Amino acid sequence: MTDRFTLDHRLPQDHLATSLRTDVLRGLATAPRTLPSKWLYDARGSELFEQITELPEYYPTRAEEEILTRRAPEIAALTRATTLAELGSGSSRKTRLLLDALTAAGTLRQYAPLDVSPSALLDAGQALCRDYPRLQVAASVTDFEQELPLGEEPGPRLLAFLGSTIGNLDPAQRQSFYAALRHTLSADDALLLGADLVKDTTRLVSAYDDSQGVTAAFNKNVLNVLNRELDADFDLDTFDHLALWNEPEERIEMHLRSRRAQQVKIPAVDLVLDLAAGETLRTEISSKFRRETLTAELGANGFTVRRWWTDTAGRFGLLLVVPTH
Ligand code: SAH
Ligand code: AVI
Repeated sequence: MTDRFTLDHRLPQDHLATSLRTDVLRGLATAPRTLPSKWLYDARGSELFEQITELPEYYPTRAEEEILTRRAPEIAALTRATTLAELGSGSSRKTRLLLDALTAAGTLRQYAPLDVSPSALLDAGQALCRDYPRLQVAASVTDFEQELPLGEEPGPRLLAFLGSTIGNLDPAQRQSFYAALRHTLSADDALLLGADLVKDTTRLVSAYDDSQGVTAAFNKNVLNVLNRELDADFDLDTFDHLALWNEPEERIEMHLRSRRAQQVKIPAVDLVLDLAAGETLRTEISSKFRRETLTAELGANGFTVRRWWTDTAGRFGLLLVVPTH
């Protein structure tokens, strides 16, 4: 591995032991049963997410890529960023469009991806160092809800938060996130935010319930994480993947629905789940946004939207956002 790549493990050694246990006890012990969606991304989950981005039904990646392809030079000219940081960077595939544009503009010095998945950061870092022979890649394994370690590099910095991962946070989590971000970003920094937009329910639901069953495998894989890390005895074949549109909240929800009444043991936290037939565990929310409400939400939290772009079909929004002066 090259000396242009560093991987800073910022999560405590006992992260899985403590944080996952707390989340399971807090979320699964009583109905409505929920788990934070970050637990979907072990090495297998990160791979399955990459497969999702290639599915014909899953339009957000292609829609955002279309916007980035068209707008990356403009983003580079507007921001003149020396550091590109990215939250929930995953494979960093779309990020290459920004790296190319900032390199062409002559400003870029380093890329700082941040993700909860070490395997995603390692794979992405290796590929980037191979393809960008002058790029410094300073990766951090951490949870963006706990800290935003953006470092002390001289700005301007551009912080990318792509893919509509912001939609995986509920309104209260988004508010805490904006507060942390407002504290972290300087006046000359900017945020590039990807946001999936409200649209026809059928298209939304099929993006989360694809015909090849990849999203179902991605969802069920979280039970493998609980079996492996907490010695749980979930039988994956007794759960169905469920994707539903929650109309009042304007969000897709992924659930795992128990096919029958059953007991599941999670010995590491001394928990026995008594599940009724048809009872669900909610594993993810994926909020969909509207221009006016997202602009107002950002405004109320100290941010001004400088640019709002969409793909030609109007499915997805990409926003260039700055701290309000
Ligand atoms: N940005 C990429 C990947 C999106 S998938 C894209 O647009 O395609 C969501 C990514 O966010 C995954 O890599 C996952 O590991 C990461 N992630 C999810 N919750 C996180 C959290 N709380 N902290 C840090 N990373 C998180
Ligand atoms: C990463 N996140 C924005 C994806 C989404 O669309 O909410 C995760 C995903 N879940 C199911 N399919 C994709």
